[in-house]
Amino acid sequence: MKRHYPATSRNRGPILEVLRQFLPPEGVVLEVASGSGEHACWFTSQLPNLIWQPSDGDADCLPSIEAWRQDQGLNARIRPPLHLDVTAPWPALHADAIFCANMVHISPWAATQGLMIGAGKVLPPQGVLVLYGPFMLNGRHTAPSNADFDADLRARNPHWGVRDLEAVGALASEAGLDHLETIAMPANNLSVVWRKRP
Ligand SMILES: C[S@@+](CC[C@H](N)C(=O)[O-])C[C@H]1O[C@@H](n2cnc3c(N)ncnc32)[C@H](O)[C@@H]1O
Repeated sequence: MKRHYPATSRNRGPILEVLRQFLPPEGVVLEVASGSGEHACWFTSQLPNLIWQPSDGDADCLPSIEAWRQDQGLNARIRPPLHLDVTAPWPALHADAIFCANMVHISPWAATQGLMIGAGKVLPPQGVLVLYGPFMLNGRHTAPSNADFDADLRARNPHWGVRDLEAVGALASEAGLDHLETIAMPANNLSVVWRKRP
């Protein structure tokens, strides 16, 4: 039942440092595209004053997220996973911050559009959106390995691909989010933080 994505064990430490810096000290964090649910459990265990709301657009992910949640005994601070397809109308929900790792490049562009529009509606003023993953900067890959990864993604699905951060940022701005910080991460990934305008 529990899925294991090996990359989550490698990237969770550096991502945690970003989350510690930018997430509010308490409140509800909506995780978009939780996948296996491993990030949800680990971040919740390390951030003791936050409530985590995992979600995914693929209903088949939800049992794995729920299994990790039960296994870790964190039920009080991890809510049951939500079926949230960011391209469909979002259910009514409250979130003080939003985190999304590794979805933007492994989904059609409409998912990034839906994520930004939804974040702009759900986040309170000053609420942050944290994205993690590979991005192009000024139309260029940041490393040859990212160019190879991009070609592989596009071969698997022509609607997928490593996105240009400027284009993602333009959507964020249209949705009422201001860019706050871009942080270089291991393995040529970035964390990017936006903040909802007051
Ligand atoms: C590569 S996995 C990343 C999972 C996890 N965040 C991680 O970093 O390990 C990509 C996830 O994006 C989800 N996804 C793709 N399109 C989506 C959409 N439109 N709405 C919500 N989730 C979506 C997939 O179901 C999948 O779980």
